[in-house]
Amino acid sequence: MKGIVLAGGLGTRLYPLTYVTNKHLLPVYDCPMIFYPIDTLVKAGVTNILIVTSGPHVGHFLGLLKNGKELGVKHLEYVYQEKPDGGIADALSLAEDFADNDSVVVILGDNTTDADISESVKNFTGGALIFLKEVEDASRFGVVELSNDKTGKIIRIIEKPKNPPSNLAVTGLYIYDNSVFSHIERLKPSDRGELEITDINNIYLKLNKLKWVKLNGFWRDAGTFDTLFESSQYWYDKNRPK
Ligand code: G1P
Repeated sequence: MKGIVLAGGLGTRLYPLTYVTNKHLLPVYDCPMIFYPIDTLVKAGVTNILIVTSGPHVGHFLGLLKNGKELGVKHLEYVYQEKPDGGIADALSLAEDFADNDSVVVILGDNTTDADISESVKNFTGGALIFLKEVEDASRFGVVELSNDKTGKIIRIIEKPKNPPSNLAVTGLYIYDNSVFSHIERLKPSDRGELEITDINNIYLKLNKLKWVKLNGFWRDAGTFDTLFESSQYWYDKNRPK
């Protein structure tokens, strides 16, 4: 299993904080944001990691993370996404060589969580696995519509719905088998011009190969002023010396 941290984009929702740095390098309490998703992977035993990044400040990642040893990463690679606004699936497509026919755990560089995903990583047998979390502001996320019967089956996933069919957001944490790369090749850009990870998840759903679990514990994507603040507050309460 390989780990992929997607840390590109322009971070426009955080302007002016991101005028002169990459969003994923901003502080969340006492660490740069990207330390958290890397830590989630390392704690799950995934220590062969690729960082996909883009935008004008990419050099800073190398200065910060170096070879990853300080964070428990055994092997760290970097790749550059030409189009910072190409979308999550476009960023993921750049990981194909690195994945080298293996399965991949993908985590968005602005997602901070204290959930332990090691069992999910260990028990993964193919297809795709997504992690869901109850949220208050579901229209900001990919949201699942679940069947009304007891099967708990996903009927569809909708990206940023105006009227969310549930409060269950698809977090930026995914496990895919290697066929994800051939699925991405067939994707068309969405209305916002991006290759959407939600479209990939819907492809696995149609193939009857999409599983889901709820993510236990704290989770935020720290990509807005409010969630950046909430994330810092959470990690401050949890980690500050008492
Ligand atoms: C992305 C995904 C969305 C997911 C979210 C989680 O949204 O498109 O499906 O729920 O990450 O952080 P974005 O950060 O691009 O708005």
